[in-house]
Amino acid sequence: MEILIRKDYAAMCDEAAGLLAEEIRRKPALVLGLATGRTPLGVYERLIRLHKDGKLDFGRVRTFNLDEFISLGPDHPRSFHHELRTHFLDHVNIPRQNIHSLVGLIHNVEHYCEVYERKISAAGGIDIQIVGIGRNGHIGFNEPGSSLGSRTRPKTLAEETLADHRKAFPPGEEVPRFCVTMGIGTIMEAKRVLLLAAGAEKAEIVRKAVEGPITAAVPATVLQVHPRTATILDEPAASKLESARYWKWIDENKAKLDEIARPKE
Ligand code: F6R
Repeated sequence: MEILIRKDYAAMCDEAAGLLAEEIRRKPALVLGLATGRTPLGVYERLIRLHKDGKLDFGRVRTFNLDEFISLGPDHPRSFHHELRTHFLDHVNIPRQNIHSLVGLIHNVEHYCEVYERKISAAGGIDIQIVGIGRNGHIGFNEPGSSLGSRTRPKTLAEETLADHRKAFPPGEEVPRFCVTMGIGTIMEAKRVLLLAAGAEKAEIVRKAVEGPITAAVPATVLQVHPRTATILDEPAASKLESARYWKWIDENKAKLDEIARPKE
């Protein structure tokens, strides 16, 4: 796992947006897995800015959303589909037909999830998957105890997750208790994973995810065995890492190691 610690949220977003922009320039038809939530918002803002400044073309990019609340239609302001549109997709030039969302209002959920998996395969798999981390260690909506080999499927959300989302819903409107989410196995098949976490309230779970034993009780720990995960943290989220000094040392030496490993012709 590559751990990059940046001084604050803005620097964390700069790093993540830079990495994504580089991937898109290298492969214009990149297949990008998108996460919702507060953490990636600054990253999307920076990608939009690069696009508006004429520095990044999304014309061939394809996207797959990570998860969605069951029972919310795509126009519901709290649906992940709507959030991703308003915070990112409506502001860049990704062709409509290249945008794949898990939809929350569907009849045969299980069949729908199988079709979604087939669409990911048909696109050649996800090149880079953005994930945040829940306070209980979930990635996507794969709550503690989810099979580490799970595929896209319907799930019941943990009470802790419902409580975290309650603030975003108007009083009187219940947070949907069920969701559809890419599975942990689906996420693990992405060629690269970008795990983002910011803020002191994530410090304890980040420590467990990065330095704790691999266990389904903390789904994010599975990323320790992913061959190419970059974890980008701000200082507060990294504040409980026992090996923070070590990760910084590795990072400081990265450019030099790259020169040795991939010498320019
Ligand atoms: C969102 C998602 C969730 C969030 C996680 C962190 O699509 O799948 O796993 O990434 O709950 O949320 P924030 O970023 O709001 O702290």
